[in-house]
Amino acid sequence: MSDRERLFFALWPSEALRKQLVNETRRGLRSCGGRPVPFSNIHLTLVFLGSVSRRQRECLENAAESVEVNPFALELQRWEYWRRPRVVGCRPAEIPDALEGLVTQLRVSAKACGVDVESRPFTPHVTLMRKAQRGPHIPLHEPLHWPVVEFSLVRSQTLPEGAHYESVGTWGLHG
Ligand code: 2AM
Repeated sequence: MSDRERLFFALWPSEALRKQLVNETRRGLRSCGGRPVPFSNIHLTLVFLGSVSRRQRECLENAAESVEVNPFALELQRWEYWRRPRVVGCRPAEIPDALEGLVTQLRVSAKACGVDVESRPFTPHVTLMRKAQRGPHIPLHEPLHWPVVEFSLVRSQTLPEGAHYESVGTWGLHG
């Protein structure tokens, strides 16, 4: 049996924040067509790792342990619409330095663990709709305040009913 798993590092909003996110975006998403991301799958990807061996996973877990980043706040206040992958989501207007630092540390660690990760600029977003036909045409007026105190390593499985995500490790932020 393969010892490989499909993993990614992510920020996982609390249930309360996910509820707020869904409520605040419902009206804007209504006219986009497409398929909403299931409530329990709503997240923000930090670093997509892809297929990872057991040895690499242990290395990534050790690296996550030594991340040094202070807690920070994200203000989700802009729509994101990507025409080609046909996804709609929301994103912060600005990327907090701590978030950029967290992603940089995780990318460096992933490479050190032998995992290839993308090097293009990080574009934080929370995907809310897939197979969208168009972007929202009303503004997302209420910024969503997200106090970020931890990050997770998440396993992704593709099941007949769709993507299933399971957190396999969570680490608190501290400077
Ligand atoms: P998304 O953030 O735009 O939804 C798990 O698959 C998560 O990793 C998803 O949130 C997905 O995109 C993100 N991701 C980033 N790069 C990916 C890739 N090359 N393949 C699959 N998912 C990727």
